[in-house]
Amino acid sequence: MGKRAIYPGSFDPVTYGHLDIIDRSSKIFDEIIVGVLNNRQKNPLFSVDERVSMISGLVQKYPNVRVDSFDGLLIDYAKEISADIIIRGLRAITDFEYELQIAQTNRVESGNLDTIFLTTSLNYSYLSSTIVKEFASYGADISKFVPEEVVPLIEQKYKNMR
Ligand code: PNS
Repeated sequence: MGKRAIYPGSFDPVTYGHLDIIDRSSKIFDEIIVGVLNNRQKNPLFSVDERVSMISGLVQKYPNVRVDSFDGLLIDYAKEISADIIIRGLRAITDFEYELQIAQTNRVESGNLDTIFLTTSLNYSYLSSTIVKEFASYGADISKFVPEEVVPLIEQKYKNMR
């Protein structure tokens, strides 16, 4: 049986940093499920359905990657889909403490589910969805951070808010 990995996140919006992690992990694991968190309390820019369809369009070229959404605890969802491992990207040392806490807690709470960290490619090591949104909200050029298909979707959201 092949190794199935879950790559969870908010993906609000998906960036080149996320896509880099998907690309690299698709070569390591047999199957990748990109799990989009249905984070109601975070007040996301994009609905969960918008985020799922946005990512789905961008990962069509990978036969072993599919996109889904989840509610509630990640470890419960991972169990439900029989994922063997969690994938997270680490950009910098500042990510490490928080990610370590979550990974440890998830492993204790689930009994066995491990998290594997991929170091983000250097050219994306500064990227974050939050900062992309901040720049986009002022009408700045975000084409270096997110795929060209995603740029107009983000711009449209902020246009509607002005
Ligand atoms: O892209 P993000 O916002 O850094 O992803 C965070 C995510 C989705 C991995 C994390 O918030 C999560 O797993 N949330 C689901 C609820 C849960 O399991 N919480 C316990 C660990 S924080």
